[in-house]
Amino acid sequence: MHGLFRSELSSVSKELPTIVVLASGNGSNFQVLAEKSISGELRANLKALIVDRPCGAVERAKKLGIEVEMLSKPWHEDLERVLDTLKPDLIVLAGFMKIIPERIVNKYFPRIVNIHPSLLPAFPGKDAIKQAFDYGVKVTGITIHFVDAGVDTGPIIFQKAIEIDEGWDLETLESKIHELEHESYWKVVSNLLYKAYKIEGRKVTWGV
Ligand code: GRF
Repeated sequence: MHGLFRSELSSVSKELPTIVVLASGNGSNFQVLAEKSISGELRANLKALIVDRPCGAVERAKKLGIEVEMLSKPWHEDLERVLDTLKPDLIVLAGFMKIIPERIVNKYFPRIVNIHPSLLPAFPGKDAIKQAFDYGVKVTGITIHFVDAGVDTGPIIFQKAIEIDEGWDLETLESKIHELEHESYWKVVSNLLYKAYKIEGRKVTWGV
C-alpha cells in the first residue's frame, strides 16, 4: 500500500492538506500541532479538534481559534459523520481515550495515526509511562503508528527511545516523554502529508 503523495497533489491544487486531531485530555500534543500549523512550519490546515468529552484540549482550541467538534452519543456514529463531512487527509489521534471501531478504521486506513508513550509493543493501553516506570525498564520512549483494528497494534511509523536516569521519578519521566512527543509528532505528521511511503505488512518505509 502506498502513501498519499500529497506533495504532488498539493502542487496541483495549491491547497494545503487537511488534518483533524482527536483528543480526550490535556491536549498538549494537539496544541503543538495547532501552533505549528498556524505558524506554517506544519504545512497543513488543522480543520478541527474532535473530542468525546469536555477536556483541557477544548480550552486550548478555543484560545487558538480552532473549531471544536464535541461528539454526541452514540459517539462512533457521530465521529463517522464528522469525518465524512470534514474529509481530512489525515486523522491524528492525540490522547483520544476511545477505541476507534473497526468499521471506521477500515474505511480510513492508513489515514489514522496515533502517538503512544512507550516503545510498542511494550506497554500498550492506558498509563503506559507509569507501566514502564513501575516495571523498572532502563529504556522507554514513544511510538507513532498507523491505527488498525487492535489497541496500539498498527504498523509503526516512528519510534524514539529515552534512557531512564536512576534519579528520575515518574513525573520527570512523564515530562521527558511529553517533550519528545511534542518535538516529534508534528514532524512525522508533516512527513506523512508530504512524503511517499509504503506499508508492506507491518513494515513502513519512506520513499516510493
Ligand atoms: C500522550 O502521552 C500520548 O502519547 C497519549 O496520550 C497523551 C496525551 O497527552 N496517547 P496530551 O493530552 O496531548 O497532553
